[in-house]
Amino acid sequence: MRLKGQVAIITGAGSGQGKAAARLFANEGAVVIIAEWNEENGKQVEEEIVAKGQQALFFQTDVSDEENIIALVNEVMARYGRVDVVFNNAGVGFSSSSKFKMDRLTDTPLQDWNQILAINLNGVYLLSKYVIPLMKKQNGGSIINNSSLNGIIGVPGADAYTASKGAVVALTRVMAVDYGKYNIRVNCICPGAIDTPMIADVLKNEAFSTAFTSNPLRRVGKPEEVAHAALFLASDESSYITGLIMPVDGGVSAQ
Ligand SMILES: NC(=O)c1ccc[n+]([C@@H]2O[C@H](COP(=O)([O-])OP(=O)(O)OC[C@H]3O[C@@H](n4cnc5c(N)ncnc54)[C@H](O)[C@@H]3O)[C@@H](O)[C@H]2O)c1
Repeated sequence: MRLKGQVAIITGAGSGQGKAAARLFANEGAVVIIAEWNEENGKQVEEEIVAKGQQALFFQTDVSDEENIIALVNEVMARYGRVDVVFNNAGVGFSSSSKFKMDRLTDTPLQDWNQILAINLNGVYLLSKYVIPLMKKQNGGSIINNSSLNGIIGVPGADAYTASKGAVVALTRVMAVDYGKYNIRVNCICPGAIDTPMIADVLKNEAFSTAFTSNPLRRVGKPEEVAHAALFLASDESSYITGLIMPVDGGVSAQ
């Protein structure tokens, strides 16, 4: 019960890494707020957790929409009166099913560029903006941002995504520096290829699949492996850690 009684907002918790974190955090005693824009998936995760006798609440949220974020935070405060943990995990990524064009800079329409940044970067900014004042009043909290390997090394072909994730790395550092004095810790996970719906179609392509498994551990990661890193950063076990940029990538960034 490493998060017993704590209130944890997880964005994008209807799928993949966010879903794995929702299950894990609930198992560890947290009240999990599933801030997800896909209603069917978000509700399904809520039902699954509640059916186990654990606590979860689905709140339909678009992380890029400020009014949505305000409504989310107001609802959580009205029901639970605090926010201890935020996992800024929602994102749109390099996927053949993506509705945005993930391509090199010169081949990326401005509209797609703006929308990718609005979700992957502004989403982190907006939720953090509204929870940090609450965490200040509570004398602490833990914010975990989900960036990407793309945020620390240049992976060709998804430049808006890469820019958004690099910005999340930089933002994590400055948030850690600005809010450390309030006992608010801000850390960042940089996953390599993780087997979630985001890259399911891409993994079917042999060339990509080979690239994604040519890391020291010779395999793609599981969403639960990212969730465990997030749990460590959420819990008091990491109480002296802030501003950490943590690759969870099978060793790709060590090569
Ligand atoms: N899968 C990978 O290989 C990989 C690698 C590095 C980083 N990441 C990052 O990890 C995070 C989680 O991705 P995943 O792999 O679990 O993918 P996923 O597609 O399974 O899950 C992403 C979730 O975010 C939700 N979402 C997207 N936009 C949203 C919005 N505007 N508001 C609210 N919810 C929104 C989606 O509906 C979905 O449920 C993302 O930020 C992604 O960029 C993924």
